[in-house]
Amino acid sequence: MSHILVTGGAGFIGGNFVLNWLANPSADGIVNVDKLTYAGNRKILDAVEHDLRHVFSQTDICDRTSLDCLFAQYKPRAVVHLAAESHVDRSIHGPGEFIQTNIVGTFTLLEAARAYWVTLDGEAKAAFRFLHVSTDEVFGSLGPTDPQTSETAPYAPNSPYSASKAASDHLVRAYFHTYGLPVLTTNCSNNYGPYHFPEKLIPLMIANALSGKPLPVYGDGQNVRDWLYVDDHCSALREVLARGRLGETYNVGGWNEKTNLEVVYALCDLLDQLRPKAAGSYRDQIAFVKDRPGHDRRYAIDARKLERELGWKPAETFETGLLKTVQWYLDNQTWVLDATSRQFGNQVVNQYAA
Ligand code: NAD
Ligand code: DAU
Repeated sequence: MSHILVTGGAGFIGGNFVLNWLANPSADGIVNVDKLTYAGNRKILDAVEHDLRHVFSQTDICDRTSLDCLFAQYKPRAVVHLAAESHVDRSIHGPGEFIQTNIVGTFTLLEAARAYWVTLDGEAKAAFRFLHVSTDEVFGSLGPTDPQTSETAPYAPNSPYSASKAASDHLVRAYFHTYGLPVLTTNCSNNYGPYHFPEKLIPLMIANALSGKPLPVYGDGQNVRDWLYVDDHCSALREVLARGRLGETYNVGGWNEKTNLEVVYALCDLLDQLRPKAAGSYRDQIAFVKDRPGHDRRYAIDARKLERELGWKPAETFETGLLKTVQWYLDNQTWVLDATSRQFGNQVVNQYAA
């Protein structure tokens, strides 16, 4: 059986990607490489537990020996690299893990992939791909009237998280130019949807709203993010992997710029409809808290290259995606409880609330 090797496949986007990929009965198998940090949760993968095309390996991407064994054993035709420390607040609290996984881990994975790739012959070597999944945060903050960020914008990361992702992007680029490793990079905006760990804005607000806790909005709530439903990100990754031009980067975005306050209001209004409180609105729980240090004001992504070259467009609007998301969280409260009760799971959630 032909395989692809996915890193971070027990996380939010990686888990959704694995489910999305294996939903196609004729898809290649997946070797799912995940360290299972606080953010990784095998319950995301329950639906593919008995699918023989799915092999799970609890492995750290910094562990070169184990990576070499996996490449040798499964001979993947591609790598889709999602494993990372991903939460900006945690990177402010403790940047070390971000340097280790996002930079050293990506370097180690690139080295393992290169060592394997040079052993391939002819067709297999030409067909091999290394898809690196990155973020719009590497481009830094935009002003209110700046045009959306295109692929040619200069890098200007402002948090330890985005700086570590920027470093990994540069390494991936260098492996293309120096060694000819057939790489592709995507830079995506804020994802949301099922299995999103409840330390990030949308799932945290839903969880806190339902348990009667304050909804902590950082600063004035006017920071802007572009939101993309996670399945749309997965379909973009499939397109780039299948048909992206080698060495190119592709922006992925939802054309959904919203202030944080707009997002929180929309969530409260949906919850008011779907799970009304005995009295009042969920909006009553909103609490403005101290701002995130170095908080980027606005991200906005220009995803026209992906549409022009590969015909990709998001299927969900913000309204349809948010409704699906809220409904999923209402139907899957046990998953939320499980994710947050695991060791270290909620250690720094709400760190600015005091
Ligand atoms: P996540 O934090 O939900 O999941 C990360 C996964 O990586 C977890 O399963 C974790 O166990 C695993 N992991 C962490 N360190 C590891 C290591 N050293 N070795 C192996 N596995 C390790 O992250 P996410 O939100 O799903 O993001 C996935 C990728 O997409 C990241 O690279 C992130 O930078 C990028 N991205 C995320 C967003 C977003 O909105 N969430 C947007 C754009 C890009
Ligand atoms: O832009 C893509 C990035 O989106 C990804 O690369 C990151 O991995 C992902 O975590 C996300 O980063 P953000 O920092 O934008 O996401 P977060 O959900 O943490 O915050 C979204 C916005 O909401 C941000 O402006 C901070 C604000 N916020 C967040 C939390 C958790 C609040 O106001 N209150 C909160 O409690």
